[in-house]
Order: sequence, then C-alpha cells, then structure tokens
Amino acid sequence: MSTDNKPLIAVTGATSKQGRSVVTTLLESQRFRVRAFTRRKDSPEALRLEKLGAEIVTMPLELGRQNDLVAAFKGADGAFLMTPPIAPPETIEAPLGRQLADAAVEAGVQHIVFSTLENVHKITGGTKYAPHFTDKARVADHIRGLPVSHSFIMLAFFYTNLLEYYAPRMDGDTLLLPIYLPEDFAAPFVDPLTATGPVVLEIFSNPARYNGKTLPVVGDIISPRQMVETFQRVTGIKAEYRNAFTRDGLLAYFPEFAANEFFVRELLGMVEYAVEYGYFGKEHDLEWSRRLAPETLNWEQFLRTSGWRGDKRSFGG
Ligand SMILES: NC(=O)c1ccc[n+]([C@@H]2O[C@H](COP(=O)([O-])OP(=O)(O)OC[C@H]3O[C@@H](n4cnc5c(N)ncnc54)[C@H](OP(=O)(O)O)[C@@H]3O)[C@@H](O)[C@H]2O)c1
Repeated sequence: MSTDNKPLIAVTGATSKQGRSVVTTLLESQRFRVRAFTRRKDSPEALRLEKLGAEIVTMPLELGRQNDLVAAFKGADGAFLMTPPIAPPETIEAPLGRQLADAAVEAGVQHIVFSTLENVHKITGGTKYAPHFTDKARVADHIRGLPVSHSFIMLAFFYTNLLEYYAPRMDGDTLLLPIYLPEDFAAPFVDPLTATGPVVLEIFSNPARYNGKTLPVVGDIISPRQMVETFQRVTGIKAEYRNAFTRDGLLAYFPEFAANEFFVRELLGMVEYAVEYGYFGKEHDLEWSRRLAPETLNWEQFLRTSGWRGDKRSFGG
C-alpha cells in the first residue's frame, strides 16, 4: 500500500509529553501518517519525530492564528488537539482550544480527539479554582456543538509531575519527596509519555465507536505513601513523604511558586478538588485504558522503565 493512502492525523503540541506519545504510536502502527505542529522545527524532539516519519510544520499554539491553523490542518483526516500549560491569570486556554477546533473543522478534518479535563467550576459550584481543568471542559463543550465527529481523552495526574515540577531533594541520606496530595489519598496517575498514544491510536482506528465519548487514561491509582514505599523498594534510596498539599507545605518546599499567587491558588484548588470530589467524575470507567493497553505503566513499572532516582528532569517542552 502506498503511504499516501494512509489517513493523515495532525497533532498539535507534537513535542509535548502527550503529543510525542501520540506521534510515535501512530507512526509505529504504520496505519497513519502524521503532521506534527511545533514552534521549533529544529528542536531535538521535533528532529526525532521527523526521523520517525512525521511531517513537521511550524505552528505555535497561540491566539490570532486561525488562518495559519486552517492551512496547517488542510488535508488532515483527523486532529489530536491539546492546549499547552498556561499559568493563570492568563486566560487564553479556552479561546485557544476553541480556535484549534474551529480551524480543524474549517479545514475539513473528519474526527477530533481533544485532551480535556473535568469542569471543576461547575462540579464544585465555583468553590475550587482550577482554570486549567475548567477551561478544557469549556473547549470540550464547544467541540460538542461543532459539525464534526469527536472524542475526548482525560489524563490522570502525570507521574512526571514529581520529576518535572515537584522535584525531591536530599536531606542527609534521605530523599524527601514533596507531594501535592495527602499522604494516604489514593489518586489516579499516568505516564503521559507512553499512555497517550495507544488510546489515541485506538480512537482514530475506530472513530465511529468513540464518537461523543470521553475516555479516562489511567496507569495506577496510588497514594503518596505507596508511591514513596515503591520508590524506596525499586531504587534502594531511603525516601520520605513531605506534605506539599497545604499552602504552607507547598511554599515551604517551592517558595518560588509564591511569585504567582494565582498559580498557587490554582495548584491548591486543583488538589482540593481532587481530594474532595474525586479527580474524575464517577461516571467514568477508570479501567478502560488499562484493559485496552495492558502494558500501560503502573508507578512501579514507570520507575523501572524511566530509571528515575529522584533527579529533576525536563522533557524539553
Ligand atoms: N501535569 C498533569 O498532571 C496533567 C494532567 C492532565 C492534563 N494535563 C494538561 O496537559 C497539558 C500539557 O501537556 P504536556 O505536559 O504533555 O505538555 P508539555 O510536555 O509541557 O509540552 C507543551 C508543548 O506545547 C508546545 N507549545 C506550543 N505553543 C506553546 C506555548 N505557547 N507555550 C508552551 N508550549 C507550547 C511546545 O512544543 P514546541 O516547543 O515544540 O512548540 C511543548 O512541547 C496541559 O494543558 C495540562 O493542563 C496535565
């Protein structure tokens, strides 16, 4: 079969943790071609994706780009849409997501997969501040009203948050892990680098089956206490939990966060929401992604495959 006969999927944020998983899995399946959107064609990750066979397109994710986006989506059969991390009080996430979806539809894309989260504002009656959840839910509402087949994925907390944003520190012979959840609260977690691709491949392979569906992506449901115990067992490094769940705890370990009070409020609002209401709505089947892809990494497998030993890591996004 000529490669030109394969459906073309456009991937926004292609070098992100989610995006690179999607691009890699779609290309490795040999069932799809991929057009990867990035700001920098010459970044190491963009070059790696190009080597795998992706068509690389320079396309920043920012407002006022409707025409460029329509041109970039032209010829694509499907689009994987995501919004990059946007720190409050910036409020562009909802309009940015809507712009991406509108442009994909205008370009003639047949099926959209958008990476969304719950509407925290609605669920909590406005008592918890987590705009990076709620804004994604608003984008999803917008997509539901567009004349296009669509599906949503909802990723659990990323394991990588502990490597990238809440890095541990040594105290004598002990590694202290400041974690943003209460020690015994079991929450859903996932590895975005390996778990996003398989579910998106499944959806684009069966778009009619998943039209209108919202699918949670979960690798483990685990408490900080269990995470630290597992970390000790896997690495042999003495480790202890530290509370970064309360404002005092968070700012004691990450005083630099205090520079943006909105960001602090958002971090606290997000975890209070997760603890009091549950990260995912009760209607979701949290086993779906693990049934679909039994190789989905739990925390222990993530530690073993990533080789993480407490160092701060960046994923180049
Ligand atoms: N952390 C969690 O626990 C969690 C859980 C669920 C959902 N999420 C959501 O996941 C999203 C982030 O996904 P991710 O962690 O996979 O992304 P990421 O690794 O932080 O990468 C973001 C990517 O977006 C691209 N980008 C384009 N325009 C950008 C801009 N103006 N600013 C920053 N980046 C821009 C960058 O690629 P180029 O440089 O190549 O353009 C970058 O690779 C956020 O919306 C977050 O709310 C996070």
